[in-house]
Amino acid sequence: MKTLRIALVLMILMISQSKLASAQTRPAWATETKEQKVKRMKWWTDARFGMFIHWGLYSVPARHEWVKLYEKISDEEYQKYFNIFEPDLYNPKQWAAMAKKAGMKYFVITTKHHEGFSLWDTKYSDYKATNTPIGKDLIKPMVEAFRAEGIKVGFYYSLIDWHHPDFEFDATHPPTPTGQAERDAANKGRDMKKYQAFMKNQLTELLTQYGQIDVLFADFSYPGKGHAEWDSENLLKLVRKLQPNIIVNDRLDLDNTDWGWDIKTPEQFMPREWIKVNGEKVPWETCQTFSGSWGYNRDENSWKSVPQLIAMLIETVSKGGNLLLNVGPTARGEFDERANERLEGIGEWMKQHSRSIYGCTQAPDSFKIPQNCFLTYNPERKRLYIHLMQWPFKSLHLEGYKGKFKYAQLLNDGSEVKFYSPTQAGSHTTETTNEGDVILNLPVQKPNVAVPVIELILE
Ligand code: GLC
Repeated sequence: MKTLRIALVLMILMISQSKLASAQTRPAWATETKEQKVKRMKWWTDARFGMFIHWGLYSVPARHEWVKLYEKISDEEYQKYFNIFEPDLYNPKQWAAMAKKAGMKYFVITTKHHEGFSLWDTKYSDYKATNTPIGKDLIKPMVEAFRAEGIKVGFYYSLIDWHHPDFEFDATHPPTPTGQAERDAANKGRDMKKYQAFMKNQLTELLTQYGQIDVLFADFSYPGKGHAEWDSENLLKLVRKLQPNIIVNDRLDLDNTDWGWDIKTPEQFMPREWIKVNGEKVPWETCQTFSGSWGYNRDENSWKSVPQLIAMLIETVSKGGNLLLNVGPTARGEFDERANERLEGIGEWMKQHSRSIYGCTQAPDSFKIPQNCFLTYNPERKRLYIHLMQWPFKSLHLEGYKGKFKYAQLLNDGSEVKFYSPTQAGSHTTETTNEGDVILNLPVQKPNVAVPVIELILE
């Protein structure tokens, strides 16, 4: 009897173990090796800087892209934004030109956000741009315009859908109904299986009708809506089949696998260091806003300054990551002046300094970070970039750099920076530097750029 009971317990244990294991098991279609993945992601790793675009019906109320949920707006009431949506000043060539000017190498557009509205002429929903007063597919000309500027194409697709009749209500989404009993009642007849098919159909359109798509930003999972509800594994299988080279983010709730995501995506957050998974550095991209909201928000005044945004880009690259910086175009279809001013400011800096961004990554640990600086490093060109976040007085101390580089210059004007390795305290400096240290001789006046950069040509 006792042995039978033990056998039973063991069997149950084995079954639950194998269940766990099967959730983690690499599916047969996921055959890519680590090296192949690095190769597939090379353009993205080199690019470092992209533009996020949040555009949809929420651009009309202009009070945050979650306005429907935050203000508990019913479908009927929200319809007024659909009825008036007419971005008549929309000129994607201008958007693409701004992105290019700012130095961005890829862009990611919200093809459908949580509100469920599609910017393209989807066959699977009437809730789309072609049925609003603007009456056209807004994605196609955008993709063409950005591509023409040499900018890679990414699609954001919301897994959450506050409009679809089969998307099941839960405590978080959508805004109504409020109580569990009401939700259960309202969910009768809703069928997530149908919603799964709808997502696959829409993604098939997006990934077959617009040429090569370089990035998919699926958004997002939370307790109660995860890989089972989205059918994430099959969804990803389809995505990879349609676009074998696409780079996919980490919000399908397949984080515990090594095949279900390509990049980690901290949001409005600057990690302390290069993001690691199981102790290993992984590709990561932080998405950031100008002012807090993703969608156009007329009255938000918490805009980051140009130097702050440049510092954010530098810090991100210094930790081996990418920056995806968001613009929320207006309901008329333009980038507002605050956004343009930021993009132009970043572009002005990038014009002279993009060498310290593109193709760069975290510097090897053997280079000690000087005070008030961020380092980036180009392994192919063997150059180290010192970003001086605070302009020092005449001397920049580089501990242990002696013999590691042969030339130093300011990046903004390519002017030589002289250096020396003092071994004894001078009569006026009264500081003894260590053998192996180097001091860069800097001009007293800070170069007239947001963040000066010194380029070291390494030995
Ligand atoms: C969040 C928000 C969303 C935004 C996204 C960007 O998941 O729900 O509004 O689109 O982050 O990463």
